[in-house]
Amino acid sequence: MTVVTASTSKPSTARADVLVLGVRTDDDATDVADALTAVGFTGKEGQVATFPAGGFGKVKTVVALGLPTEPSAEKLRRAAAVGLRAAQQAGARSVALALHPAGVDEVAAIAEGVGLGAYRFDTYKTSKNDSDDEPDTVVDKVQVLTPFARQSTTSAAVERAGIVARAVNAARDWVNTAPGDLRPPAFADAIAALATKDLDVTVWDEKRLAKEGCGGLIGVGAGSDVPPRLVRLTYAPSKPVTHLALVGKGITFDSGGLSIKTGSGMQTMKMDMAGAAAVVAAVTAIAELGLPIAVTAWACLAENMPSGSATRPGDVLTLRGGRTVEVHNTDAEGRLVLGDGLALAAESPADRIVDVATLTGACVIALGERTTGLLGNDDDLRDAVLASAEAAGEPTWALPIPEEIGQAVTSSTIADVRQHNPKPYGGTSYAAAFLREFVGEKPWAHLDIAGPAWNDGSVRGYTSVGGTGTAVRTLVRLAEDLSAS
Ligand code: BES
Ligand code: ZN
Ligand code: ZN
Repeated sequence: MTVVTASTSKPSTARADVLVLGVRTDDDATDVADALTAVGFTGKEGQVATFPAGGFGKVKTVVALGLPTEPSAEKLRRAAAVGLRAAQQAGARSVALALHPAGVDEVAAIAEGVGLGAYRFDTYKTSKNDSDDEPDTVVDKVQVLTPFARQSTTSAAVERAGIVARAVNAARDWVNTAPGDLRPPAFADAIAALATKDLDVTVWDEKRLAKEGCGGLIGVGAGSDVPPRLVRLTYAPSKPVTHLALVGKGITFDSGGLSIKTGSGMQTMKMDMAGAAAVVAAVTAIAELGLPIAVTAWACLAENMPSGSATRPGDVLTLRGGRTVEVHNTDAEGRLVLGDGLALAAESPADRIVDVATLTGACVIALGERTTGLLGNDDDLRDAVLASAEAAGEPTWALPIPEEIGQAVTSSTIADVRQHNPKPYGGTSYAAAFLREFVGEKPWAHLDIAGPAWNDGSVRGYTSVGGTGTAVRTLVRLAEDLSAS
């Protein structure tokens, strides 16, 4: 675990294995300028050059890091992660980061970038990594150099960054875990293990789910050898200013069911529980931060498998609350489990509902792999979520639910609701229109994270390979914003 602190040390006095020294192209000459020029370092944003400190300061190695000329929180988060990883590659156990933060918010961004950038998933590695870009050492101590280190607002900001980064990294771990090792009962147990005196956890097994009328979870889980679970996590401080419900899609593996996916189409489908991972991780962070807002998370866990007991296209499921759904495509399973979770959230005392789901491939087609789709039934909540996402640095874009798509959802000839779009267009909006049927009158926002939940490429900025933990930071920021309003 990487421990981050703030320190008033100067680059020349900081004690660490590696000093990461931020340089701007418009910087005046520094002590190390000659050495930098010699290795072709220009200070361009994101550029790194690692060299022996050669007597400079109290460190063994210096990593020069090109900083943005106009820093923003997001640019600093990314820069801190890049610098941290370069120090990691240089074998550092302790790192001093001199990125010249101009205020407490910038210290916070740097600390968050460090916590997120230090992430590695090596659960299944049995031997030390011999690849060049994956060092064996783990950085366990990071000092963020800043003249504001002694201010209480600085230590609070660094602590917050640590809480948030640990929550994001927990979500990443779950998403990266092999799907056979995190089937619904195991995932439910892992969530139950998070219970504390501030965090109440209730797990509904398949018997309880049937009794409670959660036909979406039962129907989606019917093809699997292991039963579905619904997990409710509650953080209820005294005198909360408001109550937020979070609902997460937790398909621990999405084979498509009988409407089976192609081999390549299911390659990454262990990530189909990223929404559940995000809402659970967010609640743990909100509780640790002690925010004055009540939050209940509903994790809807099922494994979508084909078998003789699987739900068929043409079957009719009765979801929580009694609404019947005609199933057309068993690969559109997320909306079925979310229907149960959203109905429960709608019955609860929550004032607002936000769900998070790797729901539609159509959203990735519309917005690309890095942007979350935002839909819902309430303009104020939409704007609040957009503002939180912006502050968190998680690209998010609002999409509509056009009237005719909303109408198509209720066009089933044999049931109340039609699961699947009769037309091949607007898949993300159709899925959201379906979900809207289960939220009643409450303000509700839906985050479709099918693209950003998973990074297929290589590590970039603070974004790890594989599970990214997306949406955790937006949700925590939203809870903070709602707490303050
Ligand atoms: N889990 C998938 C959505 C998905 C696709 C997530 C790609 C991440 C990356 C979801 O359950 C699904 O299969 N959706 C179908 C819906 C369709 C059958 C209406 C899709 O998007 O193709
Ligand atoms: Zn699916
Ligand atoms: Zn799915």
